[in-house]
Amino acid sequence: MKLQFDKYCVRSWEEDDAPALAKYANNRKIWLNLRDAFPHPYDLQNARQFIEGVQEMQPETIFAIATETEAIGSIGFQLGQDVHRHSAELGYWLAEPFWGRGIVSEAILALTDFAFQHFNLARIYAEPYASNVASVRVLEKAGFQCEGRLVRNALKNGELQDQFMFAKVNSGFRIKR
Ligand SMILES: CC(C)(COP(=O)(O)OP(=O)(O)OC[C@H]1O[C@@H](n2cnc3c(N)ncnc32)[C@H](O)[C@@H]1OP(=O)(O)O)[C@@H](O)C(=O)NCCC(=O)NCCS
Repeated sequence: MKLQFDKYCVRSWEEDDAPALAKYANNRKIWLNLRDAFPHPYDLQNARQFIEGVQEMQPETIFAIATETEAIGSIGFQLGQDVHRHSAELGYWLAEPFWGRGIVSEAILALTDFAFQHFNLARIYAEPYASNVASVRVLEKAGFQCEGRLVRNALKNGELQDQFMFAKVNSGFRIKR
């Protein structure tokens, strides 16, 4: 899979991405805005395990954000289950040297279009920490609506955090009977 935008793309993870992944993911500023399942510190072994895991995924829903020469971030969605099987949660991070160039806003637009086209989804949502101004802005720029504030919803870095519920809905969704 490859979605090109400008000089960047969203594409499948490759084994050779491990060194770049370990280099860029090993950043406390990134870890602070993600779940604790994201390792910190982040080493080559973590990178190899992650890539192996996503390569085994069926279907593939987690991708690299990349330049022509290296992976510089990750973006993906987790499909809901049971009564939430028509919804998916979006997650993403970008290497710090590339922040502020509009890359993730474009990546979200491309990936949500792809997800709505290829998966039977009524909605895609994200739950940024309320303190994560950049992520909130990125979601707004990618056409997500803020549906509310989840007060004291997460325990991160030893503190309770509010989160926002942001979602984009698929107007073309039809229930298959
Ligand atoms: C959040 C993140 C993905 C943004 O990626 P990015 O490619 O730099 O985002 P963009 O360049 O598309 O847009 C960033 C926007 O936030 C704004 N912004 C960034 N930091 C800000 C701050 N501290 N206060 C206000 N606005 C801020 C930028 O000005 C820009 O908005 P603009 O285009 O209207 O000027 C990136 O910073 C990151 O990986 N952060 C750590 C991990 C993370 O937070 N993941 C998301 C978890 S929900």
